[in-house]
Amino acid sequence: MSRLKIAETSLRDGHQSLIATRLTTDEILPILSEMDKAGYYSMEVWGGATFDTCLRYLNEDPWERLRKIRANVKNTKLQMLSRGQNILGYKNYPDDIVERFLKNAIYEGIDIVRIFDALNDIRNLKKSIEIINKEGAHCQCAISYTISPVHTKEYYLNLIKEFESAGADSICIKDMSGILLPYQAYDLVKSIKEVTKLPLELHTHCTSGVAEMSLLKAIEAGVDIVDTAISPLSSGTSQPATESLALTLKDSPRDPKLNIDSLNNTADYFKSIMKKYEEKEFNIKVLMTEPKTLLYQIPGGMLSNLLVQMKSLNASDKFEEVLAEVPKVREDLGFPPLVTPMSQMIGAQAVFNVISGERYKIIPTEIKNYVRGMYGRPAVPLSDEITKLIIGDEEVITVRPADLLGDGYEEFKEQIGHLAQTEQDLLSYALFPQVAKDFFEKRKQNVTLHS
Ligand code: CO
Repeated sequence: MSRLKIAETSLRDGHQSLIATRLTTDEILPILSEMDKAGYYSMEVWGGATFDTCLRYLNEDPWERLRKIRANVKNTKLQMLSRGQNILGYKNYPDDIVERFLKNAIYEGIDIVRIFDALNDIRNLKKSIEIINKEGAHCQCAISYTISPVHTKEYYLNLIKEFESAGADSICIKDMSGILLPYQAYDLVKSIKEVTKLPLELHTHCTSGVAEMSLLKAIEAGVDIVDTAISPLSSGTSQPATESLALTLKDSPRDPKLNIDSLNNTADYFKSIMKKYEEKEFNIKVLMTEPKTLLYQIPGGMLSNLLVQMKSLNASDKFEEVLAEVPKVREDLGFPPLVTPMSQMIGAQAVFNVISGERYKIIPTEIKNYVRGMYGRPAVPLSDEITKLIIGDEEVITVRPADLLGDGYEEFKEQIGHLAQTEQDLLSYALFPQVAKDFFEKRKQNVTLHS
């Protein structure tokens, strides 16, 4: 077995998991040349929350951040995470927006695009795969890992064959909830390596306390790349620590041969940065191991959101009831993986089912649209009974949802007008309309003030 490759996630998932994605570009830039010496296979630096937070809270242009990172990272591949047809947002975008977005991201320096669909519906990934291939970047297709009676090993192996024939350059097991147990990881990785020659990467979270063990078993089974985060931005709800894994494997056949000095310098730098967040975004809860996530198979973030919701509804006493309702709603709806946006939607429906005292008495629009087929195809078709209960006699679409959308670019252009100065501005607006608009207005005011 060959040297293990490491994808460093601190600049995307790491700070997203621990400090609500608040690292600023100014905090990131000084350490990049050091990180570039570490010998990582890639650095994940861009995704939905990083993009949104730049505009919404940091008053930063996310495209500018990407350009600056690229200018300082000469040797290491840069990686981003995209939600397929949802790109970095929460709904399906027209193909022309997907195309322009990916082209711009790749032009600005993204080498690897990891794409996933919340329902593992390959139709929602096809356009992205086509564009990433055409633009010459590396297309990594991720399976949204979940556990259910229909999400068997065969299901995942079939999905991987679909990814491969659609044009994937590598495969990722994306375990957003941190529920992939060590021996299951071993078995899954072994089985995947038997059906495909494509490189395989494992992405998991420490939430439930098993991630380091799962990584090690996956490494023994031959996984090619694993995701880790530099220690100050690791553990808790984030990824396992980079240095600890590098030292664990030192002088073994899978030694990733990272530059330990460079890792230590990077860690020292981020330790000082993290001090600033101690009393602000940094919440002790994100560091507490939550093995219950293995029992309920509910991601840690969703658990704490539900807790807050129930409190605000003055219904904390019904929290356990809601926890029991989540798997039932999930079963009714064809066992969708609990990843954005499905986790929020399933959570909301479970809360309504419990609070109103009658199941599906109150149904959010998003759930109706899901049942209408607007998010794609679930792993198993919904029963006629549930479909009827939720949307009555309305028809369920069977085409790829984005086929129902016309081109979007000209329309967005008309809406935002002169506030958008570039195509990249326009794409920011398409993804986060109000947030981008506010950002453009502030930028305009600043220019007027300083001229
Ligand atoms: Co993640």
